Amino acid sequence: MSAVTITDTTFRDAHQSLIATRMRTSDMLPIAEAMDRVGFFSLEVWGGATFDVCIRYLNEDPWERLKSLKVAIKDTPLQMLLRGQNLVGYRHYPDDIVVKFVKKSAENGIDVFRIFDAVNDIRNMEVSIKTAKKAGAHVQGTISYTISPVHTIDSFVRFARELSELDCDSICIKDMAGLISPRDTHDLVKALKSEVGLPIDLHSHSTSGMAPMSYMAACAAGVDILDTAFSPFAGGTSQPPTETVVAALHRTPYDTGLDLTFLTEIKEHFVKLKEKYIGILDPISEKIDTNVLIYQIPGGMISNLVSQLEEQNAMSRYNDVLAEMPRVRKDLGYPPLVTPTSQIVGTQAVLNVLTGERYKIIPKEVREYVRGMYGKPPAPISEELLEKVLGEDDVITCRPADLLEPELDQIAREAQELGIVRKEEDILTYALYPQIAKTFLAGDAVEEEIKPAISASARAVSSPAVMAAACNVFKVVVDGETFHVEVEPTEEMAIAAKAPAPADSVEGGIKSNMHGMILGLKVKKGDPVEKGDVVAVIEAMKMENDIHAPHSGMVRDIFVSKGDTVSTGDVIMAVN
Ligand code: CO
Repeated sequence: MSAVTITDTTFRDAHQSLIATRMRTSDMLPIAEAMDRVGFFSLEVWGGATFDVCIRYLNEDPWERLKSLKVAIKDTPLQMLLRGQNLVGYRHYPDDIVVKFVKKSAENGIDVFRIFDAVNDIRNMEVSIKTAKKAGAHVQGTISYTISPVHTIDSFVRFARELSELDCDSICIKDMAGLISPRDTHDLVKALKSEVGLPIDLHSHSTSGMAPMSYMAACAAGVDILDTAFSPFAGGTSQPPTETVVAALHRTPYDTGLDLTFLTEIKEHFVKLKEKYIGILDPISEKIDTNVLIYQIPGGMISNLVSQLEEQNAMSRYNDVLAEMPRVRKDLGYPPLVTPTSQIVGTQAVLNVLTGERYKIIPKEVREYVRGMYGKPPAPISEELLEKVLGEDDVITCRPADLLEPELDQIAREAQELGIVRKEEDILTYALYPQIAKTFLAGDAVEEEIKPAISASARAVSSPAVMAAACNVFKVVVDGETFHVEVEPTEEMAIAAKAPAPADSVEGGIKSNMHGMILGLKVKKGDPVEKGDVVAVIEAMKMENDIHAPHSGMVRDIFVSKGDTVSTGDVIMAVN
């Protein structure tokens, strides 16, 4: 048995899990040098959602964050989380962008790349792994851990062997939902140690309450690295506390050798920081949630589900959706639930319940998943779903990114023409988030205000129009207690919202079957329409959904335009 080392996640996963990734660079720098002196294996400081949140909400350059942390942290390796071919975004990027992004991340200070893929498809990880290796970085090949009939110890060992063949330096068991039991931890770590032979890192979340016990079991099975976070940002949907794990392993064969007194001094900084962010800390995410053990759904996904149902005014269907989720996951071949598969499974389950018919509506992202565009699912997809989605088409069998043309040159030209490139990295920021990057790089972004401790809004209500059209129930949180308040829209609000014509008064009216935003209209006034044609595309629950004509005819009138918000049952056009 050898000593265990620690990766501290306070600057990345911990605040992503508890305070929606809102920790500022200016919150990190004052304590960074002290963190460097602790003697951690690594500090996870970048990747995941941090990139997106920096430019979207904080008006901060993620590359500058990395560079300034690198200056302050001289000895401890800096680590990032990378979603394989998705990098730090939500779609597959072509290889030229992946290569450039990984190279630049290494150049700017990343020493350890933790690389994963949502369905454990090695083909989605190859290019980033090879590029990071070439840059001289430590590559942590990552297993997205989940529980299903096809996710056996053998299957994980086989996958870890593939990662080892790509020269990964260590293996991470990424238990994003906090599902791994002490017994399973022991068996998996033991098997990986003896069959693969690389150092093993266990990354878990305290969501179900089992993580600290599983960490102990991991130690007994020979784990090398454990992921923890400073106690003010630990527990719940975050990692187990650093100080606690260090104290628990003291005077055992797994002693981390870290100085508990020094850790407690550092903790004081985070106690104060937590006060600053208490307004955005969702009390639910700090609690133990044993539902996870039954539904095997990550904590973040549950809160996402609640907000989706609130948006659709359908909280009464919560239990139905919860029960539908495992069925959808089975139909989709048991993907581990992590970005982006968690959104894919969750949204389809919501649609199946709310429309009253399974797979009546299938969002674009689910169709692409079924076609193999996200990689090979762990188990076969259900025949019914294959038939519904594919029709005459086939599932792709190549590596998904092989279908993508190089984009970097074109994007670089575009960014230059927009006049937003001041350094090479800006091109990558623009490639990953074209819309937000344009505003951010032009200097037009504004830092979001930090919510005060008592918040009276559960959803962003930006204009009376949105309020009247979309929502009349508010969640008001006072001192951790939640009240639901109903608001009647006033007449002006209703006018401002240009509420579409009521359903019954329009002959041949085609209704929206969900609450969302009109992304595009596929027909114009006077067009002939066949039953089943797509007449509009609506974005609901962050996915694109087609609205089909329930009958044939001619488009007589259209009541909405692109960008409008519509509610379930609103008539969007008349066809007869
Ligand atoms: Co995590």
